[in-house]
Amino acid sequence: MVSSWLLFLGSLLPFFTGSKAAVFTLQNRCKENIWPGTLSGAGHPLLINGGLQLKPNERTNVVAPTGWSGRFWARSGCSFDQSGKQGNCTTGDCGGLLQCGGIGGTPPASLAEFTLDSPEDFYDVSLVDGFNMPISVVPSGGSGNCSAVKCSSNLNLQCPEKLQVRVNDGGETVACKSACLAFDQPQFCCTGAYNNPQICKPSNYSEVFKKACPTAYSYPYDDGTSIFTCKGANYSIIFC
Ligand SMILES: *[C@@H]1O[C@H](CO)[C@@H](O)[C@H](O)[C@H]1NC(C)=O
Ligand SMILES: *[C@@H]1O[C@H](CO)[C@@H](O)[C@H](O)[C@H]1NC(C)=O
Ligand SMILES: *[C@@H]1O[C@H](CO)[C@@H](O)[C@H](O)[C@H]1NC(C)=O
Ligand SMILES: *[C@@H]1O[C@H](CO)[C@@H](O)[C@H](O)[C@H]1NC(C)=O
Repeated sequence: MVSSWLLFLGSLLPFFTGSKAAVFTLQNRCKENIWPGTLSGAGHPLLINGGLQLKPNERTNVVAPTGWSGRFWARSGCSFDQSGKQGNCTTGDCGGLLQCGGIGGTPPASLAEFTLDSPEDFYDVSLVDGFNMPISVVPSGGSGNCSAVKCSSNLNLQCPEKLQVRVNDGGETVACKSACLAFDQPQFCCTGAYNNPQICKPSNYSEVFKKACPTAYSYPYDDGTSIFTCKGANYSIIFC
C-alpha cells in the first residue's frame, strides 16, 4: 500500500525540475546481515537493480536522480544461491531474488518512502503494512525542516499476538503485521466506506505502532504526524 499523499505528489512530479541528484546512504547497524531492497515509483529508474546485501556496520551510497520517488526496506534471514536468482528471506522477500529487479517486498516490512524535488523532498517511515526491523531516515546538508525520522524501537518485542509473524510455532517474532494486513478489514485499511480521513481513525492496534514509533505512519491517514520535508539534502537510511 502506498500512502495517499505519495500518489498525489507523484502526479505533480513532471512539473518540477532543476535541483541536483540526492545520495542515499544505506547503513546496516543490525547484528546480522540484511538485504536492503528498493522499488521506484512509476516512471522512475530502479536503483541498485533493486537490492543488495549489507553486513553488520557496512554502508553503501546510492545516487538517485532529480525528482526520483520510491521506497527502501530491508530483508532479513535471506539465503541465495550463487546466481542470486534463487533463494528466500524470512522477512521482506522479493520473489526470492537478491536484486529485487522491480519486485516489492512481501509485507510486513518497515518502509522509508521518498518523493524528491516536488519541489521539496517529502519523506516518511511507513508501518502501514507492518514492521520487520527498526528504520530511520536522517537528512544531511539540506535546507528547511529536515527532521530525522527515527523508528528505532524493536516492535517485534511488543507486537500484539494476533499480529505476530513467527518463523515457526513458538519461534521468535520476526515481524509484526499491521491490523490491515492481519485482518484485511476496511476500518483498518481505510478502504470502502472508510476511505476518508474523517472516518478512518487510529485503532488500538495502530496505536501500538504509533507509541513505539511516534513519527512513522501507523495507519493510512496518519499524514499529520508522519510526513517530513527538506530541500536539497542527502539521506542516511539506517537499519536497526
Ligand atoms: C530457502 O533457500 C535455501 C537456499 O536456496 C533453500 O535451501 C531452502 O530450502 C529455501 N527454503 C524455503 C522455505 O524455500
Ligand atoms: C551529497 O553527497 C554528495 C556526494 O558525497 C556531495 O557531493 C554533496 O555535496 C552532498 N549534498 C549535500 C546537500 O550535502
Ligand atoms: C519541523 O518539524 C517538526 C516535526 O514535524 C515540528 O515539530 C517542528 O515544529 C518543525 N519546525 C519548523 C521550523 O517548521
Ligand atoms: C483491540 O480491541 C479488540 C476489540 O475490542 C480486542 O479484541 C483486541 O484484543 C485489542 N487489541 C489490542 C492490541 O489491544
